[in-house]
Amino acid sequence: PGLDILAKRAGLLYFGTAIDNVVLNNTAYVSIAHNVSEFGQATPSNGQKWMYIEPQQNVFNYSMADAIMKPAKEAGQMRRCHTFAWHSQLPDWVNNGNWTKETLTAVLENHIKNEAQYFKDDCYAWDVVNEAFEDDGSLRNSIWLQVMGPEYIELAFKWARQYTGNGTRLYYNDYGIERVNNKSLAVAEMAKDFIARDIPIDGVGLQAHFTVGRAPTYDEVSAALTLFDDLKLETALTELDVRILLPDSPEKQELQAEVYTNATKACVDVAECVGVTVWDFWDPVSWVPESFPGYGNACLLDDDLQRKPAYYAIEKMLDEV
Ligand code: G3I
Repeated sequence: PGLDILAKRAGLLYFGTAIDNVVLNNTAYVSIAHNVSEFGQATPSNGQKWMYIEPQQNVFNYSMADAIMKPAKEAGQMRRCHTFAWHSQLPDWVNNGNWTKETLTAVLENHIKNEAQYFKDDCYAWDVVNEAFEDDGSLRNSIWLQVMGPEYIELAFKWARQYTGNGTRLYYNDYGIERVNNKSLAVAEMAKDFIARDIPIDGVGLQAHFTVGRAPTYDEVSAALTLFDDLKLETALTELDVRILLPDSPEKQELQAEVYTNATKACVDVAECVGVTVWDFWDPVSWVPESFPGYGNACLLDDDLQRKPAYYAIEKMLDEV
């Protein structure tokens, strides 16, 4: 019946995918990407990022985002929107600007205001702040931290609430927080502090970029999700993929299937985990080979758009819940 249909039967809100602009001319890809039975939710992999949305100061361009958001809406797919405040994929004018705290604060507010208002009521959730922490639990060095200080995070959440309205779930999103470790504990501390001080935060996204042989177990992912459950925050696996050290083999694909299934099952079983998004479903568009030379085949469908063992394993697990 499709992974989203099975996921809903298993109690999730959605099973979704990231969709990238570079392959929108491939009709076979697009028809799977917007098949609502398979993927009940879509996230633009790149289209809503700063360098494309506001390439020059106060000049906004929504064409890349629209190319994914509009067909997703027409198909009846929920949309998770990604992302406002991040250190990466910033245009040169942001990176190289001669900012004061005051001027950069105005830049961040103006960006969030425009993009949030443009997509008002279009997003189930926004990844308001992305990847703000280091593995040791300290804040990541970025232009935001350098110029605005740690308050940039809570300001981004306040503006996101102000300009999206109340209907949109506001998420903090990061990788490497799929185990209980210094990073996930630091995110939980921040969330706890936000809740205590009425800073609007609704959820935490665990990206879940995993590697065969080094991935967290079902128990580890469950424990990490539970950190946020205990704070009554919603969670989601927002960018799930499982890379393989090439060359690939049937054995590695079986291990990959286990990793995908364990993570998805943890989300099914933890009360506040609402859904799972894969960070694209097709190996040739995955971000992995470019960023991790020697690794690849991280997705559910192979080069020929054929389903891999991981696809069938998730399908079977969801069907048996
Ligand atoms: O925009 C240029 C385009 O003009 C050019 O023709 C093309 C040629 O290769 O490159 C395009 O830029 C690429 C961009 O994606 C858009 O396709 C960059 O080279 C490429 O590095 C960039 O990668 C993206 C990456 O974020 C950047 O950090 C990946 O597609 C995207 O999947 C990835 O997504 C991130 C999440 O946002 C946050 N979490 C981690 C995740 C994986 O890195």
